Amino acid sequence: MAPRTILYTGKGGVGKTSVAAATARRCAAAGQRTIVLSTDPAHSLADALEQEIAGTPTDVGGGLFAQQVAAQAEMERHWSAVQAWAGELLRERGADRVSAEELTVPPGMDELFSLLQIKAHHESDDWDVVIVDCAPTGETLRLLSFPDVLRWWLAKVFPQQSRLMDAARPLARMVLDLRLPDDAVIEEVNRLVGNLIAMNEILRDHERVSIRLVTTPDRMVVDEARRTFTYLNLYGFLTDAVVVNRVFPAEVGGYFGPWRERQLETLEEVRAAFAPVPVLTAPYFAAEVVGGDRLDELAAAAFDGTDPSALLLERLTQELVVGERTATLRLELPFAQKGDITLRKIGAEVIVRVDDHKRTVVLPGALAGYRATSASFEDGALELRFDEP
Ligand SMILES: Nc1ncnc2c1ncn2[C@@H]1O[C@H](COP(=O)(O)OP(=O)(O)OP(=O)(O)O)[C@@H](O)[C@H]1O
Ligand SMILES: [Mg+2]
Repeated sequence: MAPRTILYTGKGGVGKTSVAAATARRCAAAGQRTIVLSTDPAHSLADALEQEIAGTPTDVGGGLFAQQVAAQAEMERHWSAVQAWAGELLRERGADRVSAEELTVPPGMDELFSLLQIKAHHESDDWDVVIVDCAPTGETLRLLSFPDVLRWWLAKVFPQQSRLMDAARPLARMVLDLRLPDDAVIEEVNRLVGNLIAMNEILRDHERVSIRLVTTPDRMVVDEARRTFTYLNLYGFLTDAVVVNRVFPAEVGGYFGPWRERQLETLEEVRAAFAPVPVLTAPYFAAEVVGGDRLDELAAAAFDGTDPSALLLERLTQELVVGERTATLRLELPFAQKGDITLRKIGAEVIVRVDDHKRTVVLPGALAGYRATSASFEDGALELRFDEP
């Protein structure tokens, strides 16, 4: 059976690596064959676990394996022909060496290749649980909505479709002195497209794969988590938990008292905004979360009574179905009563108010001009219809 795969993402510095490592240790301690992998070149997983970690699965004790994927090496393995070709093309057109090299690598591309490791682990029989410590704020997951990546490449690099190019190659060489990509290049691109399609299928496997958002109880950080949540839903990726890390415990006393009050308010807002997605919390510890014991303390706090590898929610709570000239957004609002909901749409943002709770859903840019034409509320879910004007 494919392993249970959990991806942690969130804004920079909120505790993704700590929570990922803590979750992995707890799964391993429960006897599951677990690997935690990171694509972060800063090697923070090694720092959190206080272990040397290689680019391949490394035994870090306690039954746990860890891996720090070397983005550069993955890149060279999967993309060298394209890079060579595109680099040469750009240099011929006057780009200097350094910028040519940069231009041949779309932003986030190296990270994307690292993530193909998830696919490799998913297809192997080696693991029960795969934990992924992702780059900040789902940038990578955004990349995994492969049509965008593809569009980037097709627009920037491929002047025509590959079949057209086959016919045009000798002619273009003679007439235009244009270097069209050879078979190796086209094959690499095709392989990438195939891999991305497979990755998308894996990530949308709602029985085995989920994403967990890590945030701190601070408004701006929570706002970003909400935006991430929206597009994860739009891409059909299941978010099965939100982890609110660094909540001041009661012991902080007077000086941080008002701060703690505000955090607790924000925490309530988080519960309302993400419901029914379960919200887990971990306290702000007096010291850094480094080393096995500290990580286990963090895991014990976050997963108090909860199986860390369980699927904590089984369905998407926001669904957008886009038709020809119409779109339907389905939003679960478990706290809402029929009648006390107000709706506003400003550009691409839909603002739903239920009593004191406000929920903002950001629609894809293409729907910004659409008008909200009807709303119905049934079985705890709001259904909104948008039509092209
Ligand atoms: N609950 C906590 N209490 C105290 N310190 C914490 C807590 N969680 C994380 N830390 C510490 O905060 C720092 C940042 O945590 P971590 O590296 O896990 O964040 P991150 O989200 O992975 O950061 P980055 O975006 O840079 O990858 C680390 O020094 C970690 O030990
Ligand atoms: Mg990190």
